Amino acid sequence: MSQAGDYAAVKKDIAALLHQPEYDDGSAGPVLVRLAWHSAGTYDAETDTGGSNGAGMRYEAEGGDPANAGLQHARVFLEPVKRAHPWITYSDLWTLAGCVAIQEMGGPEIPWAPGRTDFVDDSKLPPRGRLPDAAQGADHVRHIFYRMGFNDQEIVALSGAHNLGRCHADRSGFSGAWVQNPTRFSNTYFRLLLAVDWKHKQLPSGIRQFMYIDEDLGEELMMLPTDIALRDDAKFKVWVQRYAEDRDVFFEDFTKVFAKLMELGLKRDESGSVLNTDNVKGGYISAPKKGDVAGKPEKSNEEADPLKEQNKKFSARL
Ligand code: HEM
Repeated sequence: MSQAGDYAAVKKDIAALLHQPEYDDGSAGPVLVRLAWHSAGTYDAETDTGGSNGAGMRYEAEGGDPANAGLQHARVFLEPVKRAHPWITYSDLWTLAGCVAIQEMGGPEIPWAPGRTDFVDDSKLPPRGRLPDAAQGADHVRHIFYRMGFNDQEIVALSGAHNLGRCHADRSGFSGAWVQNPTRFSNTYFRLLLAVDWKHKQLPSGIRQFMYIDEDLGEELMMLPTDIALRDDAKFKVWVQRYAEDRDVFFEDFTKVFAKLMELGLKRDESGSVLNTDNVKGGYISAPKKGDVAGKPEKSNEEADPLKEQNKKFSARL
């Protein structure tokens, strides 16, 4: 067990678990980035509710939101880290893991600060329906991200995270990866968005997405309707072009905006201490690791075992 506050030790252990040869494209990184984003992306600036504090996905009300389908894989990947560092809150662990994953996959170093607490019950969780719906267009995307306090440039920069990972038919209904190398952070997503003639595709389930077949590689790539909306909306497109042309500018802007995303819902004083009521009154409450709750048999793999089986099936289909 590490010393409380030794975040460097936690980072090291997160980096060590990213390599997962049995899972998806061989890395836990992309799904950890998605966990970090969904943990924060519930923020509503007007009511100052939601955001990265609390680790609400531990509760059914938030964890069971269909928009969060599949993120149990990310949480299971992180359980050994929680076991090794039980003092860290889940909310800090999930956000830190996203930042570490981005950097380890060749992305920029995202400034990250600790101090999030884990809610002790589900009474303060945001309502479902605050995360974006990929089947919609530019108006919806603006509605969702303006609510969190982001502008058009920040929306496009954040969307560059779709350079990582893939869609899973059994999670979101969409299927496939955006780029050929989905475990390497780069600006390829923006370049492909502009360079390729994306065609409509209807999946057997009836879901509509966009596709392109790379003839040389014999690989099919995909875009969500919300991704295509960034290309087709004149104000978003300016930023898609900028980031497609200049990787360094994208990395710089992504660093700032992802750090901002991870801070949504937190108020800090000048020394960095979190001033939210729960954190001030309750302190740094680190929820117990699943399965280690007193009185219950040690069953830390409750969630992991069936998922391992499922993951094997995913890899077999690839
Ligand atoms: C309009 C906004 C967005 C929409 C509609 C959207 C939608 C989606 C959908 C449908 C998936 C596939 C999930 C699955 O089937 O497993 C996905 C995956 C992903 N998203 Fe987004 N997303 C949005 C913004 C973002 C942002 C802001 C980030 C991070 C900054 C992000 C990071 C990711 C990552 C890394 C994956 C891959 C996950 C994996 O490989 O398991 N997305 N997104």
